[in-house]
Amino acid sequence: MPARLFLSSGDMIADRRFEFARDLQLKGDLVAAADLLLQAVELAPNFASAWFTLGEIRAQLGENDDAIAAFRNARDADPDDRHGASLRLMRLGAEPLADMPQAYVQVLFDQYAPRFETALVDDLGYRGPSLLFKAVLSVRAAARKPAFFRHAIDLGCGTGLAATAFAKEVDRFIGIDLSPRMIERARLTGLYAELEVADMTQGLRGKPEASADLILAADAMVYVSDLAPLLREVARVLASGGLVAFTVETHAGEGVLIGEGLRYAHAATYVRAQVAAAGLNLVHCDNLSARNEDNVPAPGLVVVAAKT
Ligand SMILES: C[S@@+](CC[C@H](N)C(=O)[O-])C[C@H]1O[C@@H](n2cnc3c(N)ncnc32)[C@H](O)[C@@H]1O
Repeated sequence: MPARLFLSSGDMIADRRFEFARDLQLKGDLVAAADLLLQAVELAPNFASAWFTLGEIRAQLGENDDAIAAFRNARDADPDDRHGASLRLMRLGAEPLADMPQAYVQVLFDQYAPRFETALVDDLGYRGPSLLFKAVLSVRAAARKPAFFRHAIDLGCGTGLAATAFAKEVDRFIGIDLSPRMIERARLTGLYAELEVADMTQGLRGKPEASADLILAADAMVYVSDLAPLLREVARVLASGGLVAFTVETHAGEGVLIGEGLRYAHAATYVRAQVAAAGLNLVHCDNLSARNEDNVPAPGLVVVAAKT
């Protein structure tokens, strides 16, 4: 996990109370930790990190109404919501499912960037790029077409693992990612002709119609709740005969939910419906997991759709 975000209150005593409270929380003394955090926010009412931590502790104690109030205070104190209090509110059912705050995703992955590949590949057995690669090769083989692509776009490119998997099959790669630090790492691979710090849907909006023959999103759509606007842009930017290949986490029910790992899980029926609504043709959908969660494969789908 990336380091925990701390936003100073600007008040030394309140910050110190927060530190003591964190020690108590880590030692399991949740009631005493909550007490100290309340004292910290008494001194510094706009102390987002203290409100957020108080929300976590209240939720751990099963005091959901108080947790909801604390998370709302955390978000009021930091309207960009770098801690991701909105996600906790969605998990608690206090707010409807919505997109993640961009500042939260940026902070999360900026902090993650230096250790990302070790954490994901070694610790979580991450295999998204190789699953996409195999799926795209099998789709192309079935269509008796060469698996070579002139213009590819890597959505949520991270450090460049998907471009690395497809490097021999792609002439020119564009990478789009919200996190500047991840983009810096991607640049070091030398695999991308262009790299852009942007939300993936916004980034695609700036690309000309029919300008890509492959669009990849490896473990990136798990950070997007509503796939409809994104897949519409994908369909617009893909050239005829082009492919989009992506992984999602999934669940046995209907629609979209936010999982314990604070990533969205999209039901297979939902994915199929959104692919069709975007005017794309689903050519491959396998129940395969891209990474582990608590040492168990997280249920996932590997999807390839074509623009006809
Ligand atoms: C788990 S990483 C996967 C990175 C890479 N695709 C790979 O396979 O290693 C998810 C990436 O998606 C990016 N991301 C999340 N939400 C995004 C969004 N809405 N727009 C652009 N990038 C996003 C994150 O910054 C992060 O780099």
